[in-house]
Amino acid sequence: MKHTISRIIRILFKTIPYRVYMYFLWRKHKNSSYAAYYAAAMKRRTKLDPKTAIGGKWEFMGKHQVDLQKLNGLLPNHTLLDLGCGSLRGGLHFIPYLHSGNYTGIDISKEILDAGNIFLKEKQLEGKKPTLLLVKNLQFNELPGKTFDRMNAQSVLSHMPVEDIEELFANLHKVLKPTGVFIATFFEDDTYHPSAQMLNFHYPLQMLVDLGEKYGLNIIKIQDKGYKNRKQKVMKITWKDQTVTTS
Ligand SMILES: C[S@@+](CC[C@H](N)C(=O)[O-])C[C@H]1O[C@@H](n2cnc3c(N)ncnc32)[C@H](O)[C@@H]1O
Repeated sequence: MKHTISRIIRILFKTIPYRVYMYFLWRKHKNSSYAAYYAAAMKRRTKLDPKTAIGGKWEFMGKHQVDLQKLNGLLPNHTLLDLGCGSLRGGLHFIPYLHSGNYTGIDISKEILDAGNIFLKEKQLEGKKPTLLLVKNLQFNELPGKTFDRMNAQSVLSHMPVEDIEELFANLHKVLKPTGVFIATFFEDDTYHPSAQMLNFHYPLQMLVDLGEKYGLNIIKIQDKGYKNRKQKVMKITWKDQTVTTS
């Protein structure tokens, strides 16, 4: 009993300052874009620990992302866009697998990309010529004319409000090839709702399917082989009409 109480007190001491900080950050960004708020949250989280800032489970979730993409057809000669690549938890596994120059990671947080660059150097992977880019929104203006065979978004759409997912779907034709495959995770629930301080967003699958349909996308939920009892679900996004023009 004594042990349990002291454990609860320790947890409260750890989480309360963070929750208070996040509450004030959220209030400060009430009139900014959601991405600006999330980038500010990432700055703070990265300072604390760049490996847990993106969700932890560093080795397992890094490798798992590549395994899941491979199960869905990823090949070394494919080009891959890792949306919300963070500190390269997945990137450090994608980059050695893919041919040189075929990995591109984008993120809204400069601090998390800086951390990713450090990990990249530590693993001596710069020779594989990955591209890491800071972006402002989901319009892909930083990647003019570049299209990809595969896209990955691990734990990214799960932190996006519906307006941002709509912006992403509306601009996907600029980057996802007509035959492209996009694997993304999301929190599934019966209703659409954000969590406290708007850091997570939960979606009914049908809501995402309908939104995708509006932009010519086919969305199906797929089995997450190799990860039992995972909180996030996985969806596979492809073009309904595989002759869709990318511009
Ligand atoms: C939970 S982390 C996951 C990082 C990485 N995908 C992984 O699995 O390690 C979410 C990442 O998405 C980024 N992010 C959130 N919204 C974004 C957006 N609109 N465009 C690009 N990156 C975004 C965050 O900055 C953060 O690095």
